[in-house]
Amino acid sequence: MAEGLTRSAARNIFYGGSLFFFLLFTALTVHSHWYMVNDSTDSAGLTESVKHGKEVWEENMCINCHTILGEGAYFAPELSNVWERYGGHESPEAARSGIEAWIRAQPLDIPGRRQMPAYDLSDEEMQSLIDFFEWTDGINAQDWPPHSAG
Ligand code: HEC
Repeated sequence: MAEGLTRSAARNIFYGGSLFFFLLFTALTVHSHWYMVNDSTDSAGLTESVKHGKEVWEENMCINCHTILGEGAYFAPELSNVWERYGGHESPEAARSGIEAWIRAQPLDIPGRRQMPAYDLSDEEMQSLIDFFEWTDGINAQDWPPHSAG
């Protein structure tokens, strides 16, 4: 009998292993897609304004400093739960005006504190952006971020 692995055993492990993991990753990909479409995403609340808010978010490159759902740069706070942080679950109107006031008040010019630039957003862009934050907060992100400060 040959020492160690035979050629055909090594080949079977290679093909069998490749097939096994290919099928496993395919199944996980299908599951992730299924979960996003049917479970985690509020498709009914996905209005034109929410979509426009995402465009405002992208056009102004807020992601260069912020993360949303963990994606982006780690210079500034996570914003997927900014709606919750401003009390949107208890009082949506107060959260709406609080977030707008914060964005309009920039830059704060407090020495030694990280700064956020000023953005000249129209009212319509601002409301869409906040709709986008509210909608994003409703995504079931399995307790991400791990604490409310983001
Ligand atoms: C150059 C980096 C930078 C960019 C770009 C930027 N921000 Fe910020 N943002 C910050 C920093 C830094 C803070 C926190 C500042 C502080 O705590 O004083 C902040 C805070 C915020 C907050 C308050 C978060 C909280 O929990 O209090 C909101 C809302 C926000 N940014 C929205 C935006 C939006 C919307 C855009 C794009 C239009 C944007 N930011 C682009 C740096 C940035």
